Amino acid sequence: MKTLTRISIFVLVAIVLSLAFSSRAQAPAALAATPPMGWNSWNHFADKVDDAGVRAAADAIASSGMKAAGYTYVNIDDTWEGTRDASGNITTNKKFPDMKALADYVHSKGLKIGIYSGPGPKTCAGYEGSYPHEEQDAKTYAAWGIDYLKYDLCSFTRFMDRAHSADHGHQLMLDAYTKMHNALVATGRPIVFSLCQYGWQDVWKWGPSVGGNLWRTTGDIEDNYDRMATIGFGQLALAKYAGPGHWNDPDMLEVGNGGMNGDEYRTHMSLWAILAAPLLAGNDLSKMTPETLAILTNHDVIAIDQDPAGHQGDRISALGMTEDWGRTLADGSWAVGIFNRNDAPAEGVLRFDDLGIKGRAHVHDVWAAKDLGELEREYRTQVPAHGVVLLIVKK
Ligand code: GLA
Repeated sequence: MKTLTRISIFVLVAIVLSLAFSSRAQAPAALAATPPMGWNSWNHFADKVDDAGVRAAADAIASSGMKAAGYTYVNIDDTWEGTRDASGNITTNKKFPDMKALADYVHSKGLKIGIYSGPGPKTCAGYEGSYPHEEQDAKTYAAWGIDYLKYDLCSFTRFMDRAHSADHGHQLMLDAYTKMHNALVATGRPIVFSLCQYGWQDVWKWGPSVGGNLWRTTGDIEDNYDRMATIGFGQLALAKYAGPGHWNDPDMLEVGNGGMNGDEYRTHMSLWAILAAPLLAGNDLSKMTPETLAILTNHDVIAIDQDPAGHQGDRISALGMTEDWGRTLADGSWAVGIFNRNDAPAEGVLRFDDLGIKGRAHVHDVWAAKDLGELEREYRTQVPAHGVVLLIVKK
């Protein structure tokens, strides 16, 4: 009887412990279970970002329909940092008089707030980085109520350059990201960890092991079709590295910043949705045209991006300058973009065979919000210059 009691106590303790550990192990997946959505200050405001601008962005997300569409994170990029106080605590500069009050304000709108730093002594814009104050900074972020950290390599490369071998330099970088990840976890506050090191050294292979919920796969995007297309169509063969809790990040959106036309911005948004990319708007949300808002908040495009299965897409076929990119969705259907990379309109084609569908398939045009019915073997269509026809295809 005594032995039995001991055994049952032992079993009980084992169950409690395994539950505790399994829920800890699952924490990163619960964070960023789908690609993060929100806004980031950099693409439009760069070093002009300030408290008022962040509040205005939060107001706009809450009132424009973006929050309802799924945009959640209001992320402050570089240039918020001040100096360190006598105890080494990071302070804000005069553009951000009270970060805690700002976080409270963003939270009061039902949104979350993100911030930016890096593992080097200086950030990319030359402001104070986290080296060697990682734990202290993580605690400060948590005390302010921060929910998301973009951690940008920048000046950390000086340590890597001084390493005695390339492998050693690589290890230093991994250690630096792991250090901040552990510091964030130790705060007990769920904080999404966004790695920014421009896709160097196959970050998709080790990003999850240093606690990354997402990692930039490229250098910086710009608000023009060529740069956006180079990045977006350059994301070949990365699909297998993405999934719930850990995403490839081809950089923030430029939709609405003015350097591309509507067809090009629909290409940008469609490609990012097929790539299961984070959707961080990068425009001035207080001055959006109806077309910009419609592109950013298209319910069906966002549903593709946020599909719970989290299968990143890839290129399915290419014919000259037209390319079909697609991903499978949780309900067994496909999201496919027929992209025209030509400077003039062109015919594109989707062959159902390429999706493993024999014979007939049901086709829905997402941007046109139009059912095309049951089609035989393929769908041929005119695609605008630099444009896309985005489809949902079901057997
Ligand atoms: C790097 C990043 C950008 C931005 C700037 C800020 O260039 O890649 O996304 O954060 O730094 O200085």
